[in-house]
Amino acid sequence: MKEFKLELEKRTREVEEIVYRYLPQETGHQKTIFQAMNYSMKAGGKRLRPMLLQEVCRLFGGSLELAEPFMAAIEMIHTSSLIHDDLPCMDNDQYRRGKKSTWAAYGEDMGVLAGDALIVYAFETACRAFALSCCPERVGEAIRILAVKTGIYGMIGGQTVDVELAGKPVPREKLDFIYRLKTGALLEASMMIGAVLGGADEESVKRVEKAAGRIGIAFQIQDDILDITSSQEVLGKPVLSDEKNCKTTYVTLEGLEKAREDAASIFKEALEDIRALPGKNLFLEELVTMLVTREK
Ligand code: IPE
Ligand code: IPE
Ligand code: MG
Ligand code: MG
Ligand code: MG
Repeated sequence: MKEFKLELEKRTREVEEIVYRYLPQETGHQKTIFQAMNYSMKAGGKRLRPMLLQEVCRLFGGSLELAEPFMAAIEMIHTSSLIHDDLPCMDNDQYRRGKKSTWAAYGEDMGVLAGDALIVYAFETACRAFALSCCPERVGEAIRILAVKTGIYGMIGGQTVDVELAGKPVPREKLDFIYRLKTGALLEASMMIGAVLGGADEESVKRVEKAAGRIGIAFQIQDDILDITSSQEVLGKPVLSDEKNCKTTYVTLEGLEKAREDAASIFKEALEDIRALPGKNLFLEELVTMLVTREK
């Protein structure tokens, strides 16, 4: 366990180093936008999505160099979703990744623009993979997945229903929809893109999507639990944000105990899905196992 934690720390730094290489230089008349983008990208975070992308690519024996622009792209899109999620018109939260939220540090106008900028720059960055690849159709398919899972059928669609239903009763089936999209979709994108770049066949990509979808739901249930049971010092973001915004969550619907049990069993199913894939990646299995007991 301790050994894995050290390895995870090392890999997180490596992933971060790759992501940082794709960030814009902070010069030019529009440098405020570059600064606001880099502020949030460099604030920290677990780097889970680029790490999963890389590990699934490794599992299928793909070129890790080709994965690099996509690792940066997925972290940019995830970070943009956090910047917008914290805005006063959304969850209205002042802290993120242990620092002031982007809007709180740079103003609401720059918060909106930095989120927009990161989404678009993510695609500009992903397109750089064409120059590295001898299989442009894999890169094209990966970009398509990135778009679908980010947009109206993915994260943005989920956030729409999430904010629209604040303060209203939400049946379980609608909550599942929200979690599958707002959180699941970007995790699905991460792992599916890793698979596509690694040369996985259609059937395997579908199985990866299913595993990642499970990870997404369980991850969001845990996020809800931590919002109640953890502290700002540990999480780097405010706790009790859901209560403040009158959100229905898995915990308000099912209770803390069942939420814990369900998250653990959904992660277990995801792990079984991953173990059943062709190829083997022990680090990936350990990573998913570790997620069950994450504290931040
Ligand atoms: C937070 O994601 C938002 C959710 C989708 C629950 P993470 O917990 O992965 O945030 P960072 O990247 O580590 O800051
Ligand atoms: C976030 O859900 C999902 C996103 C797509 C950003 P939350 O609103 O619960 O995420 P946190 O708790 O602010 O990170
Ligand atoms: Mg939110
Ligand atoms: Mg939030
Ligand atoms: Mg939350």
